[in-house]
Amino acid sequence: MTKRIGLLTSGGDCAGLNAAIRAVVLAANDTYGFEVIGIRNGTEGLLARPIKAETLDPTLFDGAMLRQAGTLLGTVNRGDPTAYPMANGEIRDRTDEFVESYKTLGLDGLIVIGGDGSLTILRRLAQAGGLNLIAIPKTIDNDVAGTDRSIGFHTALTVATEALDRLQPTAASHGRVMVLEVMGRNAGHIALEAGIAGGADVILVPELNYSIDGVAAKIERLRVSGRNFALVVAAEGLRTTAGGAVETEAGRFGGIGHYLAHQIEQVTDMDARVTVLGYTQRGAEPGHHDRVIATAMGVRAVDLFAAGQFDRMAAWIRGAVDDVPLDEVVGRSVGIDPDGALVRSARALGIYMGEAG
Ligand code: F6P
Repeated sequence: MTKRIGLLTSGGDCAGLNAAIRAVVLAANDTYGFEVIGIRNGTEGLLARPIKAETLDPTLFDGAMLRQAGTLLGTVNRGDPTAYPMANGEIRDRTDEFVESYKTLGLDGLIVIGGDGSLTILRRLAQAGGLNLIAIPKTIDNDVAGTDRSIGFHTALTVATEALDRLQPTAASHGRVMVLEVMGRNAGHIALEAGIAGGADVILVPELNYSIDGVAAKIERLRVSGRNFALVVAAEGLRTTAGGAVETEAGRFGGIGHYLAHQIEQVTDMDARVTVLGYTQRGAEPGHHDRVIATAMGVRAVDLFAAGQFDRMAAWIRGAVDDVPLDEVVGRSVGIDPDGALVRSARALGIYMGEAG
């Protein structure tokens, strides 16, 4: 009997998901003769009746798929099947329905492309139902443990760096402070790496608390040195020195970037302008690095399936594909290291990164 792999994408989308799907389908069919069943809209496809899933035909996976952003399977980042919010307000455990669908489809294993939240939920489902689970890490936030890189991060970095490249000339022309708000609710990897690559003067991340006086002092030092502009990169989840997440006043500030620009205008005599990158970081065409790691990790996931090595995640470690136990991944999301080499590099350049760490 031909072995059947269920494949789904879960959580926020990012660039490179289709490249990973393509790699799984081609490696499964060409190398092993396995069939891949694509499940629609993450876990929702297995909760739906009829089940939303179909065999993925390898002949449809020509080069076009490799280049496309988004996920052809669809995805969700809500509706945990173990605590599902029903339309009537009830919270229901739908694990049995999920497991039943896995069995109805005759699956021998499930490959999930997801971030930390999704992998935690899927592992709980797999353990409850005795399902064979293999994971592939994705998220622009790059905070999945056990891997140096998650699919989507590199492309998001390119988008954020290009934004700084475009903000610098207009900042200098007008003598303004430009605030760039990037994604990262709990992890500042995008802000830190794009900030360094794009020549930011201030980089604010959730892992290092900031004070507006610290930001103002940096801008003043720039002014004294003869510079008429400043570039500020802020992750959406930044925190003040008081330790709290910044609460924005609904209707007054669009988000953290607007809040910060308003603060900067109050404590300096400079004009500040805001660019919120938002979902453009997720919807970009995948760059070469994301295509390469998505392909390598997709193939590794199929190899793990063929070898019967479940409860593991494909990973990208020290420039090569690898795999790690899911036990070392779930519930351990990884932020930037406040004492790490990149933060030290940034500070060595005089970039303001907050008070702590
Ligand atoms: O994928 C992670 C992330 O990009 C976060 O940085 C961001 O806060 C979140 O997704 C927003 O996602 P959504 O609006 O789709 O829930």
